[in-house]
This record gives sequence, C-alpha cells and structure tokens, in this order.
Amino acid sequence: DELQELLRTGEYIDRSGVRLVKYDGFWFPVRVFRAILSTQKYFKAKHTDIILSTLPKSGTTWLKALTFAIVNRHLYPTDQSPLLTSNPHKLVHNFEYGVYLMQENPDLEQIPNPRIFSTHMPFNVIPDSICKSECKIIYICRNPLDQFTSFWNFLLKNDVGKDVDPSAIDVAFGMFCKGYFSFGPFWDHMLGYWNAHMNNSHKVLFLKYEDLKEDTTFYIKKIAEFIGFPFTLEEERHGVIKQISSLCSFENLSDLDVNKTGNTSIFKNSSFFRKGEIGDWINYLTPQMSERMKELMKSKLEASGLKFNIMS
Ligand code: A3P
Repeated sequence: DELQELLRTGEYIDRSGVRLVKYDGFWFPVRVFRAILSTQKYFKAKHTDIILSTLPKSGTTWLKALTFAIVNRHLYPTDQSPLLTSNPHKLVHNFEYGVYLMQENPDLEQIPNPRIFSTHMPFNVIPDSICKSECKIIYICRNPLDQFTSFWNFLLKNDVGKDVDPSAIDVAFGMFCKGYFSFGPFWDHMLGYWNAHMNNSHKVLFLKYEDLKEDTTFYIKKIAEFIGFPFTLEEERHGVIKQISSLCSFENLSDLDVNKTGNTSIFKNSSFFRKGEIGDWINYLTPQMSERMKELMKSKLEASGLKFNIMS
C-alpha cells in the first residue's frame, strides 16, 4: 500500500526513536502516517467546524483548552467546566493521533456542533474539504528555540524517548535545524499557514504562543470573535474572559489531578505541562545553537514577514 511503497522508495530516517517518512515535502511520524492519509480521504468538514492546527510543542494543549472553554461557556460555568475533570486532549480530538488512528473512517457526525478538532498536518496536506468549507482554522506557533526545548523535554519524559541519550541535545537540535522533526521542517509548516492567513485572514487565524502569553485577554477575545462566539458587553463586565483565562492557565491546568495522571495516546498527560514559559531555551541551548537558529530563521522566514523575538 501507499505507506509500504513510501517506506521502500521514499526517504526516511530514524530520529531518536521516532521514525519519520517524507511526503509532500514534510516529515511525518510513520506511526500516524496511515491516519493522515485516512484524514485526507475521509474527513468531511462542516461549515461550523473549528480546526486547531499546530506544530508539536507550540501551545496545542492551551489552545484546545481556550477554544473549548470559549465555545462551551454557555453550557458550563467555569467552575463546572469539563476542563476540570478531563484532559484537554480528551475534549478536543486530534485527527492523526486520535480519531483516524483508532479507525480508518470514524463516524464523526454525532459530535455536537461546533465540532473542534486538532491536527499537526501542514496546510498543504489538510483535507480539501477543510479548505472548501467555511470552517475556521486557528494556527498557533512558537519561537522555535522554545518549541525545540519543549520537545526535547517531552521526548525524555515519554516512552518514545526511552532510547534517547539525554546528553545528545546537540544532535537533536542539529536535526531540528535541518528540518527533521515530526511535521517539519518547522519553517515550511509555519509558512504554509502564514501564507494561508495572509491570503484569507477570515479563514486562518495565525497566533504565536508568546503573544498569547503576553496578552491572554486580548487573544481570547480575538479567538472568540474569529470563530463567531464573541463576548457580549455583559459577559465582559461579569469577568467571563478573565475566568476563561484563569481556567485555562498553565498554573490551573497543570495542577489538576486529571492532568497529572493518565495518558493521551502514547504520551503521559503530565508531559504536556512542563513550565509554560517564554525563553526557557536559554537553560538548554548554547549561544552557538541560538546563533545558528537566528541565521536559519533569517534565511527561511524573514522574507515572509513572520517574526519571533527569540531573545526574549
Ligand atoms: P514547555 O515545555 O515549554 O513548558 P503542546 O501543548 O503543543 O504539546 O505544547 C506543550 C507546551 O505548552 C509545554 O511548554 C507546556 O508546558 C505548555 N503549556 C501547556 N499548557 C499550557 C497553558 N495552559 N498555558 C501555557 N502553556 C502551556
């Protein structure tokens, strides 16, 4: 079949226990590749759908929590939110690690509208029906130095990283910079959604983890407006935005029992919550590494206008 054919003929590398296969210019984990093809083939978007798209370790968990809380705020007051008793990854399902990994063609029709899904698929690989429908895409990315640092820690905390040499961060960083990273190269992933956002900002909302962290209230409002769930003045006066911000904060979510125990797919729930800070890369990466990244970002991203303040 297509996967066997790719593994025979396509390039693939064994990176730190995660086997990757190249397809359409991107590296995909072999484990979920079949599910990606199923998503492409079977997913039928509805106009009311909301698709959260991210590179791993860019703020997926946070964006899931926020979007879920915004959309469901009329059903549950924040002190009764399902986010207090369920991990965000159980409330918002991922295509390739979730629904399409379990079944080739799952029935997603009964999920109440608006359905919220997440994916790590690059823009050029997401199902056509998403682009053709009026559904919304929210993309979040993160300064690649912090994203890599987050990924490295995540790898070491989970079974997938059990054979990784904890002192070999330089090797892993070198590969990240060459684009060998699940759903990478990171720059092409970001640029795909960046360009889509530039072409149609009603379709794709483009967010950065750092911005969300610096002005969470502003971006909660922005997300709510973008998906057609704007806050009323009355809600604003009653502090609903602040309540959602607190409910979904790193401090709150990381301290809940449900996020300290159990697994999502093959990952520990607790491994999705580490520090939740900007600039922690400085504790892991050398000045040479950050210089290399600066040069890389200049060459890959500068022309597009997409910028990160990597020294912050
Ligand atoms: P760190 O490893 O830097 O702490 P993802 O959800 O895409 O897997 O990304 C995980 C990263 O987001 C981790 O970063 C994690 O701590 C951080 N994170 C998880 N929940 C968060 C929240 N509610 N607010 C801010 N950051 C959060």
